[in-house]
Amino acid sequence: MRVLLVGASGQIGGHLARLFGGGGHEVIGTYATVEVAGLRLLDLDDAASLEAIVAEVAPELVVVAAGWTWVDGNEADPAASQRRNCDLPLLLARAAAAQGARFVTYSTDYVVDGAAGPYREEDPRAPLNVYGRAKAALEDGLAELGSAALCLRTSTVYGPERQGKNFVYQLVRRVRAGQPFRVPTDQVASPSYGPDVAAATLALIEQGASGIWHATGPDALSREDFAREVCAVFELDPSAIEYLPTSALAQDAARPLSAALDTSKLKAAGIVIRGVREGLEALQREAVAESGYAAL
Ligand SMILES: NC(=O)c1ccc[n+]([C@@H]2O[C@H](COP(=O)([O-])OP(=O)(O)OC[C@H]3O[C@@H](n4cnc5c(N)ncnc54)[C@H](OP(=O)(O)O)[C@@H]3O)[C@@H](O)[C@H]2O)c1
Repeated sequence: MRVLLVGASGQIGGHLARLFGGGGHEVIGTYATVEVAGLRLLDLDDAASLEAIVAEVAPELVVVAAGWTWVDGNEADPAASQRRNCDLPLLLARAAAAQGARFVTYSTDYVVDGAAGPYREEDPRAPLNVYGRAKAALEDGLAELGSAALCLRTSTVYGPERQGKNFVYQLVRRVRAGQPFRVPTDQVASPSYGPDVAAATLALIEQGASGIWHATGPDALSREDFAREVCAVFELDPSAIEYLPTSALAQDAARPLSAALDTSKLKAAGIVIRGVREGLEALQREAVAESGYAAL
């Protein structure tokens, strides 16, 4: 299969590039600011280039693993959030559909208000922040494409990655360096091992799935408990971390507090994302210099 992979330099995109490449697919991947050998430069903000690249590459599948993922940054610029996390991915989705290509992208647990998780795919959404509203609008736009579009909602993605910037890398580096690190006690979510999110994506594509699917790990954990698990696996002192309620953190974007996602639909499709302890142990094994991932 010929795949246009937008955001191949990112966390999930990097795993997808490995998987698709290893599976014998032809991958044309893109980056925006972090140059990676073999990837092409593509900036979502350059709207004219989006239809052009779809026309030039003539893919059978377009995957957008790109977006503006800095949730607090989104809060200060709703127009840019809507553009980068909804309008421009939708432009790519429509360009793909016009050529008969399938389309896959990612949404988030931040489309729910977190009043009473875990949530199923069909439960009502009520995003609390700008990023979540843009993703909810993306989901609505994709629904119009019917069976041509697949959207995976994921959460708190961690695991080995080239850029080494996910929550676990940040925690381990800062605590090892004796720097302050604060985590909320009351934000419950479903941490998701990145390589498994990519594998779930490929499995759903192979099954011909469409619509919204939850693709998260099986555990519903507070960020504090997740941090404590990281400390246990990486042999760090958990008391080096400052644990605070969300109300004391002054984050720019409001967060859903009980936002775990129900993955029954994914499990019924025979797809499993590993739990946190197993994922952290895999990260510890994988994040070594020779792996191509940032070492930890
Ligand atoms: N990580 C999570 O916990 C999580 C949770 C829920 C949903 N998601 C969604 O999953 C998707 C992938 O997330 P991720 O964690 O893999 O993100 P990531 O590591 O931050 O990677 C984002 C990717 O998007 C690219 N990108 C950023 N701005 C761009 C722009 N203006 N034009 C073109 N490309 C641009 C980045 O390129 P450069 O790095 O080269 O700049 C990178 O390849 C996103 O849609 C995100 O919203 C992630």
